[in-house]
Amino acid sequence: MSRTVALVPAAGVGSRIGNGCPKPYRRLGQRPLIGYVLETLGECAEVDRIVVIVSAEEQEFCREKIIPTCNLHKPWQLVVGGAQRQQSVYNGMKAIQGLADTVVVHDAARPLISLQLLQECIFEAKKCGACIVGVPVRDTLKKVGERDIIDKTIPRSHLWMAQTPQVFHYDLLWNAHQKALQEYFQGTDDSVLVERLGLPVKMIRGSYKNIKVTYPEDLLLVESWLVEEKEQAEEEP
Ligand code: CTP
Ligand code: MG
Repeated sequence: MSRTVALVPAAGVGSRIGNGCPKPYRRLGQRPLIGYVLETLGECAEVDRIVVIVSAEEQEFCREKIIPTCNLHKPWQLVVGGAQRQQSVYNGMKAIQGLADTVVVHDAARPLISLQLLQECIFEAKKCGACIVGVPVRDTLKKVGERDIIDKTIPRSHLWMAQTPQVFHYDLLWNAHQKALQEYFQGTDDSVLVERLGLPVKMIRGSYKNIKVTYPEDLLLVESWLVEEKEQAEEEP
């Protein structure tokens, strides 16, 4: 039987959003940001277990005050993260060694993950080894050099912005992390580590609403989309 484990990196300090409260625990409507993520992972029948990766200082707070409010009806555990996101994911991978065939990585700071997209990403990754969600770049891209002068314009026709969920066969992501560790390579997502193995990673088109809450204004955007979603749900017969 295939076992799928979701890793939820939530051990960051949220330096760009400020305010002292790390992003996963910032409230949006009735719930903390991470509550939206755990709800969707909880609803996803393909996910057997959820591992939330937290900082050592927030471990107790998360266990006592956050998870119990999230209505999680499947096995879960907390794992202490590291200084960088990559290290946090690696700690999660270590904790589930031998327990997972497929691993789903999804940031705690992306509350608007859709269940359908998550399922599609898992389906594709099971088939081909690695699949991530992203969206085509919309703006024109400039490479800017010395004294803020534009060096060149980069054609965007093949450029996408990577998001999470990112889903992999466990062994593949494990090997990718090992290689990165040995070579002191730090990436900003998990896909790049697999790409460095020379293996194909499939991209599927996600949603522009699946933003990573990074700056304070992002919270306002997510909040307005949540209100919109709620209104639409109420209108449906
Ligand atoms: N994350 C993590 N461990 C780290 C750093 C980040 O688990 N050492 C998590 C964050 O909690 C977040 C996700 O990875 O859910 C994406 O990271 P990012 O948006 O960069 O969050 P922070 O690192 O918390 O924010 P900042 O970079 O502004 O400090
Ligand atoms: Mg960060």
